[in-house]
Amino acid sequence: MQQLLVDVDTGIDDALALVYLLSRPEVHIRAITCTAGNVGARQVALNNLALLELCGAADIEVAIGAEVPLEIPLRTTEETHGPQGMGYAVLPAPHRKISERHAVDIWVEEVRAHPGEITGLITGPLTNFALALRREPELPRLLKGLVIMGGCFNYQGNTTPTAEWNVSVDPQAAKEVFAAYRGVAQDKLPIVCALESTERIEMRPEHVRRLGEAAGVHEPELVLPEQPEGQRSKSANPLVACLSDAIRFYMEFHRLYDQGFISHMHDAFAAAVAVGRTEFSTRLATVHVETDSPLLMGTTVADFRGIWGQPPNARIVSANNPEQCFDELINSVGRLAASRYHGTRAEVT
Ligand code: RIB
Ligand code: CA
Repeated sequence: MQQLLVDVDTGIDDALALVYLLSRPEVHIRAITCTAGNVGARQVALNNLALLELCGAADIEVAIGAEVPLEIPLRTTEETHGPQGMGYAVLPAPHRKISERHAVDIWVEEVRAHPGEITGLITGPLTNFALALRREPELPRLLKGLVIMGGCFNYQGNTTPTAEWNVSVDPQAAKEVFAAYRGVAQDKLPIVCALESTERIEMRPEHVRRLGEAAGVHEPELVLPEQPEGQRSKSANPLVACLSDAIRFYMEFHRLYDQGFISHMHDAFAAAVAVGRTEFSTRLATVHVETDSPLLMGTTVADFRGIWGQPPNARIVSANNPEQCFDELINSVGRLAASRYHGTRAEVT
């Protein structure tokens, strides 16, 4: 069984990542902690509770941590992920409550209790993890591993010309996290899924159709550029409908910014990396995060050649296989949707 702790800012691609992890029988999510980012932390938590119920995994603890970044004011991006962070999808109010435990307590207590067993996955700003490192500086050695979605290296940012969103929301947290990993054994260094690899995970209408097919829906699930904006799914499968309505919003957003009618599934790729079910390679690097320059705030810089004379603190993904990743996501999530709402269905090639 693979033990995971995930910290998310759900968000559309966080939602696909979470549903994918819930579709994996070999994965045990010990808890889901929530950071403000795409939307406020409380809304992130409600999204996660509702998604867990939709997927029939309602017993996983969902907790909130810091509701604002370490130093700079919180910015959220409802424009990208929708007013509640799930695009056009409207999730029923969850029956369960947000945990009384604080996210930082969960990370510190769970990892101390299970040294070497838990892999961390962070798909939002690094605020909670930075606070957990302040409390337990041994976290990098106590964790089995860590996967981070964030940053961009020698690649255009998606928030400023040089900064990626998760790092941009809380640059000070990201700086502390990478500094804490200096000198840690290579096999424990964070695997960093940055924009140059996650923007290759371009979800297209064909992938949505295949997802519906894998879920055994009778009518093709069509999210098409020529359809009216905001058109809602008519799928009888609630999980397919939820993902379809979320992804449509995200595709319309990407089109608005001249990226085409596609959606970058950054976090779903990071989730598949965390459970070892997608192809990737990495390069060792020393990463620094800019926190002084107003114009370059949140810029992530990688020293791949040891020019700074500092030990590596990251393994940056340098190659991946988008179509294999989508095959994995579609078949696994499709199976979950079919088994939960229809009856089992074979894999779709
Ligand atoms: O830059 C992409 C990242 O920012 C993803 O994690 C997305 O969910 C947003 O949080
Ligand atoms: Ca995210």
